[in-house]
This record gives sequence, C-alpha cells and structure tokens, in this order.
Amino acid sequence: MKPSFSIITIFVLALQIGCQSGSNNQTKHANETMKANITKTAWGALPDGTTVDLFTLTNKNGLEAKISNYGGIVVSLFTPDMNGKMEDIVLGFDSLDEYVKDTPYFGSIVGRYGNRIAKGRFELKGKTYNLAKNDGENHLHGGLKGFDKVVWEAVPDTSSGEASLNLTYVSPDGEEGYPGNLEVRVVYTLTNQDELKITYFATTDKQTPVNLTHHGYFNLTGGAKRDILAHELSINASGFLPVDSGLIPTGELRALNGTPFNFKTPKPIGNDINFDDIQLKLGLGYDHTWVLSNHKPIGEVGLAATLLDPESGRYMEVWTTEPGIQFYSGNFLHGKYKGKGGVVYQDRWGLCLETQHFPDSPNRLIFPSTILVPGDHYSSTTIYKFSVKRKL
Ligand code: GLA
Repeated sequence: MKPSFSIITIFVLALQIGCQSGSNNQTKHANETMKANITKTAWGALPDGTTVDLFTLTNKNGLEAKISNYGGIVVSLFTPDMNGKMEDIVLGFDSLDEYVKDTPYFGSIVGRYGNRIAKGRFELKGKTYNLAKNDGENHLHGGLKGFDKVVWEAVPDTSSGEASLNLTYVSPDGEEGYPGNLEVRVVYTLTNQDELKITYFATTDKQTPVNLTHHGYFNLTGGAKRDILAHELSINASGFLPVDSGLIPTGELRALNGTPFNFKTPKPIGNDINFDDIQLKLGLGYDHTWVLSNHKPIGEVGLAATLLDPESGRYMEVWTTEPGIQFYSGNFLHGKYKGKGGVVYQDRWGLCLETQHFPDSPNRLIFPSTILVPGDHYSSTTIYKFSVKRKL
C-alpha cells in the first residue's frame, strides 16, 4: 500500500467572499445587507403533465442551492473556493427531462430505504414483504419509483432568517411493497453558517423499515473539472461492513487498520482505490458502509467525514445523527451521463457520502433497527458544512 496520505500544511480561512472582487458572473458577492432568500420558478413538467418547481435558496454569504420538488433533488450548490469564486460542487443535469429519463440518483432524497435490502424481501411480525428487485436480485434505494422520483409538496420558509425548503410526501400503504402509510417530511436549510442541513421526519400507521438519505455527488473542484481521486477524505469510523457480490453486507464488522478502507486520517481517495483487495473489486472501488465512531448522544450530530479538494481549497465536513455512512466513489458513472454544461461524467467524477443506517438491516437483527412503529417519530439530521483551506 502507498503511504497513506500526502501532508500539506493548511490554514483554515474564514470565507472571504465579501472581500473578493471578480468579473466572472459566477462570482457572487456577499455584503452587509445580504439576507437569506428563497425564490421559486417553474422548472417543467413530468410526462404525465404534473408541473415541477425549482427553488433557489441563498444564504447571507451568497452561497446558493437550487432544489427541486421533484425527488427533492439538489440540482446545483454554489460554494466559494479559496479565492472566493463561487462554483457548483454537485453533479447533475441542466434540465428536468434528463433527470426523469435516467439518473443515478443525482442529488436526490432516497427512500423509503436508502441502500440495499437482500433479495427484495424481509419479514415483519411473521409476514413476508416483497419489494421491487431493481439491483440484480436485490432492492435498492426504495425501488422502481422511490422518493427520488416523486413530486413533493414544497413550502419555502425564511421566517428564521435562513432559507429553508419544507418537503412533504405521503407514501401510501403498499408503495413499492412496503407496509404502512408513511408520512415523510424533509427540510433542507441553507444556513448562514454555510451548511446544507437536511432533517428528515417520518411517522407510520404500520410497522415498516425506514432509512432516508441524500444522494448528492460531490466534486469540490467546482464545475466538475476533474475526477475526485485527489480529494482528501477522512471518515471518523471504527470499521466498515464487507459485502458480498451483490453489495449486501456479510454481517462482519472489519477493522480498518492495514486496509485500503482506512480513512481515519485524511487520505487522497485515489491512493489505495486500485489496491489488490477483494472488497474493492466487488465494489469496483469504494461502495461500502463505514460504521461511525463519533459516539454522539442519540439525536445529536457528530462529525462523520471531511473532504478537501487541495487545488480549490474547498473543504466539506459531514455531521450526522446516523450510525453509518456509505462512501460511494462514483464507480458506475462509466461516462454514461452528459451532465451540466455538457461535462461527461466518467467513473470517479463525483462521490457520495450517504449518511444512513446499515444496508439490509431488516434482515440483520444484529444491526441497529430501522423499523419505525406507529406512534414513534423517525428523525434524522445530516449537515454538509462548507469552508475553505489554503495551502501554504
Ligand atoms: C449507491 C449504491 C451504489 C450505486 C449508487 C447509484 O451509492 O451504494 O452501489 O447503486 O447508489 O448508482
């Protein structure tokens, strides 16, 4: 294995947007009077005629997120680099039609169950439930029409001085094979501390598995200039979950030391990704759940991961209440998608850090439970926090 990470000396800098000047129209300026804002525009219609909107959230520092009520998709997210230049740090498409046609979950809300359920089947209270098998013999990301493909009821809110988008959806009993009417609310907030905060809530009228997550593909270069192999990642984990050939956890919790999965200290993603390791071969790269060791009290967020693009200086922290994080290194992009601005997304052109409970938990009683019971309230919070670091 190569040395685990390249050492660079860095300074954490306060965001300097207000001090920067520039002529590029992608450069936005914060000023004393700038306030959080949210606007709504029509984005198009689905093949059945349902109209879809696009909401633009801005915070007081000029960060901007465009979010659709179709799939709760974060279509773009502009954050500053070390020179204050605002650029888009997520993969996606320019038009609604392209998302509807074929997307690998770019920027979407994933549910009812983020990740895989083996053989699309689980038992609850003695009854077997059969789900759609949309990933070989397994069920993935909520099925054929998961929460990434439904139109959510959207209500913008700036009453707290921050831009929030409240999304609600009622998933009917039996949808994609899951029991119970599930009432779901997801709130995206672009905070004035330069965070994209996502809170998830759900209630049900029958016991059912729930594991909601966000499927943003990050590329901190801005405008997806390069692949993400030079991004330096750290994951605050005690181990990872090895998988079988269908990417279903085997039930083992494997220690990280001495494996290419060790991101305890920041390491360029490309360092060990081609290491001769059966788990990397099965995932075509990283596509595994790390078991977080941030030991936070229930309901409080802990630091799960950090990500730095040394070239642009963009730095992201991921905080979550969840016990796990799926790090997916964009192994199935295969140059198949022509994304925003005509950029073709090759393998490893974006990476996902999906906070969640563990895959296949309904069939693995040793994993933390994902079963929501009537009367209980599901809630989960994840924060993607943006800043910059500068090389000396
Ligand atoms: C998740 C999975 C991957 C892949 C992507 C979508 O991250 O873990 O295996 O299915 O979603 O392409």
